[in-house]
Order: sequence, then structure tokens, then C-alpha cells
Amino acid sequence: MTTDYIIADINLADWGRKELDIAETEMPGLMATREEFGTSKPLKGARISGSLHMTVQTAVLIETLQAVGAEVRWASCNIFSTQDHAAAAIAATGTPVFAIKGETLGDYWRYTDQIFQWPDGQPSNLILDDGGDATMYILIGARAEAGEDVLSNPGNEEEEILFAQIKTRMASSPGFFTRTRDALKGVSEETTTGVNRLYQLQKRGLLPFPAINVNDSVTKSKFDNKYGCKESLVDGIRRGTDVMMAGKVAVVCGYGDVGKGSSASLRGAGARVKVTEVDPICALQAAMDGYEVVTLEDAAPTADIVITTTGNKDVITLDHMRLMKDMTIVGNIGHFDNEIQVAALRYLKWTNVKPQVDMVEFPDGKRLILLSEGRLLNLGNATGHPSFVMSASFTNQVLAQIELWTKGSDYRNEVYTLPKHLDEKVARLHLDKLGAKLTTLSDEQAAYIGVTPQGPYKAEHYRY
Ligand code: NAI
Repeated sequence: MTTDYIIADINLADWGRKELDIAETEMPGLMATREEFGTSKPLKGARISGSLHMTVQTAVLIETLQAVGAEVRWASCNIFSTQDHAAAAIAATGTPVFAIKGETLGDYWRYTDQIFQWPDGQPSNLILDDGGDATMYILIGARAEAGEDVLSNPGNEEEEILFAQIKTRMASSPGFFTRTRDALKGVSEETTTGVNRLYQLQKRGLLPFPAINVNDSVTKSKFDNKYGCKESLVDGIRRGTDVMMAGKVAVVCGYGDVGKGSSASLRGAGARVKVTEVDPICALQAAMDGYEVVTLEDAAPTADIVITTTGNKDVITLDHMRLMKDMTIVGNIGHFDNEIQVAALRYLKWTNVKPQVDMVEFPDGKRLILLSEGRLLNLGNATGHPSFVMSASFTNQVLAQIELWTKGSDYRNEVYTLPKHLDEKVARLHLDKLGAKLTTLSDEQAAYIGVTPQGPYKAEHYRY
């Protein structure tokens, strides 16, 4: 019998299942979604290619998508973020999953390709993406098939690995990318970086299907990016280094949603936190939250821990790292590894301490501790965000997939967010678990503030 999965070890399935059972008790939004749509199965006929960190929480998402009618094929969206026992539990149920913690970049793109290869040869019709790599794989491939010169970026090793995979698929399955692109009814995107990519595609007229921006549901970015990182950033640093955090100087680059959660995480651990920002509004927020706002040039020499959270590139440069003192811990919690100039460190002496922890030595003997080779450390060094907050994110994902599948033709080839009543519904589903009791508006009160007692409770321009 051939198996339609690539994972580290199927014997980890029992352990994975036990953790899945626990996660379900912390994911009320997903479980309520199963309840609501388990009989009507609105995703019947949907063939979803999923590219999102293959964790225990994602396993609960996968089984929810299946419970409401979808077929799925899954890969991780990062080479270090897979939890092998979660992948095993999913594979053991017969779900095709392609993800191994510590996979190579070549494998990463091979696995991304696999999520589009269905046994009957028919194409996928939906993508569930985190960071936009699965979407990009199909769109670049389709442009290459149309004869555009998109497969060359001499000298960029990472892109060459992607292009090699696209060329392999083009040679073995002519027309595959165009066929898949044309069959896709849409994509739902999980994160800030992937959403940025989608808006850029829309702006250039290159978005061939509707997209739902899950990240900017309030119940996603104002919770997962913030409260999620508040728990998982320090978790990753501790598991990676066991360093005493109280009293240390930590610098957080960026004070967006992830930066806010990350700064709070470090402060909660007793670190003295400084923040860098380019945006005066976020800089003012950081200052008024009580953080010193600095430049990295000024702060690097005295920092013990430097974390970048921006979704931008070249934020921690080689020059910054030259300024740092011996044994400074350097890490990234943004989506891609180009926030830190890791490529420039490759020529230095690396000592691997343990998986996803390296000591990098400069010619003068100064050493840095680099977490997850500059890839997002809360998933590389720890297990990502806790289940409860991921339940809110993933309930938005399931609702977005249902929307695209059942009403996709109502949408243009643009990027949309879910309507506010669904956002409020996701939040509502998570209140009971915390014992939170909502106050009900009287008709008079509702009329006075211009809403209905059932919501939505805020205007679109409200910023939370
Ligand atoms: P955001 O846009 O809310 O925040 C980013 C902040 O970085 C902005 O305030 C921006 O002004 C600032 N920034 C940009 N360039 C900078 C520079 N050179 N120096 C200092 N500050 C700079 O984005 P959000 O939602 O906070 O996401 C940030 C990144 O984290 C994205 O890549 C996103 O995909 C990723 N992410 C990672 C998660 C994880 O679990 N590791 C969870 C959610 C998002």
C-alpha cells in the first residue's frame, strides 16, 4: 500500500491524538463550528490545499474543515514549525499531510507542490494559506507557463530552490499551474505578511480569484498576533536558551500587533524592554505604554535579547549584530527569515547547540545566540500560540472558506475581510469558556448609540 503522506514518524500518532483531544477542549469556536455545520456540510465538494504550520491546533482546524464537508491536503508554511506528533495524528486518519520539523527548503517546496496533487488528478479549488507561499507557488508557475520570464533571480539561493521545484512540475505535468489557478475559487490568508502580498497582487491586477483577509478580522490580529505572541515569544526564548529574563535588557523591533504582544511578553518575564519603530503612531503608543523608544543602533550594544516583529526585511542587520555584546540572543517572530540578515552570518563560525539554536562567532570571538536560524522562533523553538487564541483565528478561517466556497461568485477578484457580524460571532463563541457574561443593550440604548441590540456594535471605522 502506498501512503499519501510524508511525515517524520507515524508512531507518534497516539501522542498527537491525546494532545488534539486536549486542544479541542480549548478551541470552542472550532467545536461550535463543527456543531453548526456538521450536518449541512457547506464545504462538500471543496478540495482545500492548506499551507499553515502543522501544529496540534492546526490539526483541530483540519478536522473541522473535514467535519463540515471539505477534503484537504496539508503542508506546513515554515520548515521548523511542524509538530511531528500532530502531523502523525492527522496522517493516521488518512489525511494527506506533508510536513516534517526541520525539513529542507527543497522538501518545503516539494511538500507545497504535494498539497495540489490529488490522487484523481483533478485540481484543488481552494487555498488556505499562511504567508502566501502556496498562492505564490501556483501564480508564479502559471506565469511561467504563459511564457513570462519569472523563474530567474541569479544569486538568490532560496528563490532558486523554489524555481527548481516549479520547473520540475512544469516538466512532469504540462499546464498544471494554469489549470490549478483557473480552478481555484479563492484563498483565505492567515497572516499580515501574506495579506500584504495579496494586496500587492490586487494592486498590480494579478489576483486571479477572490481572497479573504483573515488576518484583519479583529478576532484574529488583535488576539492571535497580540495575546498569542504575548504567551509564545517568551516560551520560545526559554525553551531555546533557558536564560534568566528578569532584569535583562530586551529590544523589540516593531510595535504593531505582534510587537505589542512581544513587548508585553518580555515585560511580563521581568525584562527591561525597549522598542524601535518607524511609524510615529506606533512609537507614541510604545512610549505611552511605558517602553523606551530607541533606535537599534543606539540600543544594540547594551541589549541582552533582540527580537524583530516587523514583517519587514533587513531590520536586524550585520552592522547591528556587530555592535551587540557577547552572547546576545537574537530572534525573529515575524513571518519570514529576512528580518535578520542571516545570510551575512553564514560566513562566520556556527556551532549548533541543539535543533533551532545556534551560536554564531564573529572573528573577534564575540558570540551571538541565534534562534531558529532567524525564522519565526515561537514556532521553531516552542509550539506556537496556545489553542484558545488559535481557535479564534481558525474559526475565522473556516468561515472564510465556507464564504468562498458557497458565495465565491458574489466576490470580485479582490481582497475582502469577513463582515463584522461574523467577527463578533467568533468572539461570542469564546466568552463562555472564560466565564465572561455579556451585557445586553436595551432597545433604547441601542437606538441611542445607533446600533441594534444584536449587533454589529461598532462602525467599520472603529479601531478597537
Ligand atoms: P503590523 O503591521 O501590525 O506591525 C509591524 C510593525 O513594524 C509596524 O508598526 C511597522 O511600522 C513596524 N516596522 C516596519 N519596519 C520597521 C523597521 N525597519 N524598524 C522598526 N519597526 C518597523 O504587523 P503584525 O501583525 O504585527 O505582524 C508582524 C509580522 O509578524 C508579520 O510578518 C506577520 O505575518 C507575523 N506574524 C507572526 C506571528 C507568529 O506567531 N510568529 C503571528 C502573527 C503575525
